Amino acid sequence: MVIKAVKFREHGFYTQPFAFGGEEGPDKFDSNIRYRGSMQNYLIDTGDEVILVDTGFPAGTPEESPDETSLGYTGKDICSYMEAFAALGYKPEQVTKILLTHKHSDHSGEIKSFPNAKVYVGKDELAAAELQGLTNLVPVEYTDGAYYNFPESQKIADGIFLIKAKGHTYGNSIVIVELDGLFYMLHGDITYVDEALYENKLSVVFDDLAAARETMDRVREFVKNHPTVYCGTHTPQGYENLEAKRVIDLDNPVETVFEEFDFSKKEATGKYICSVCGYVYDPADNDGIAFEDLPDDWRCPLCNQPKEKFNKA
Ligand SMILES: [Fe+2]
Repeated sequence: MVIKAVKFREHGFYTQPFAFGGEEGPDKFDSNIRYRGSMQNYLIDTGDEVILVDTGFPAGTPEESPDETSLGYTGKDICSYMEAFAALGYKPEQVTKILLTHKHSDHSGEIKSFPNAKVYVGKDELAAAELQGLTNLVPVEYTDGAYYNFPESQKIADGIFLIKAKGHTYGNSIVIVELDGLFYMLHGDITYVDEALYENKLSVVFDDLAAARETMDRVREFVKNHPTVYCGTHTPQGYENLEAKRVIDLDNPVETVFEEFDFSKKEATGKYICSVCGYVYDPADNDGIAFEDLPDDWRCPLCNQPKEKFNKA
């Protein structure tokens, strides 16, 4: 069995208010601190089958063009998700299962592009707008009981488990792969950056804050007690941990590396994109109303985030 990162964006960032501000509020943190960002999902080749954990942004999702006020930035395209998948040497027809950690379009974007795949997703996620009209969904009821200190889980294949991890979304899950004595935690967005796990902070993106706290506590307890490789979606530390087989040690954080950003202005398209879910606001689809002219309390129609989570596209 082998786990590979499917890398499709690089040189992004998440500010400390975004990555840490869920419980104490974004104002308590320093917006000038930007942690490295990237976008990657994961592929598990068991030798018998090819299993994906999440499936990127949908093709055609525009890049954001961040400025000094942007709270988060998913990064520059390396390529599309499907190109990144193909570059690993696989064909869409080979994928038999997709384990969807949650609904957001940077995770669910291409689930329709794998004709032979069943999509395993927590049953509480099924009402999500992103998942409507799909015929290959398998609602997961976590019928296999506890997985160590996580109360609800379901075995997907030998050594591969989907674990209920509510909070970021209502039906959020994490995936754990047992391989060569290590526990690879392919966790979707339990944190956006590993620094938040070390510092025990929740991001500002959640459907259920109390559940997100409970999940974070369980994740931290798990990684204290089991040799865990922590593989996130939004930070280069996700694939760096994977490639180095680096076991997370909460008492000895991996050193934070910052990246410099060039905020020089690009030509404005008038489009804005939600940095949380990838929803694109295009004035052409909205009676010509400029994003700037939307009311202050306007929210993302897909994930309900406020205007300040949007970046220029
Ligand atoms: Fe995400």
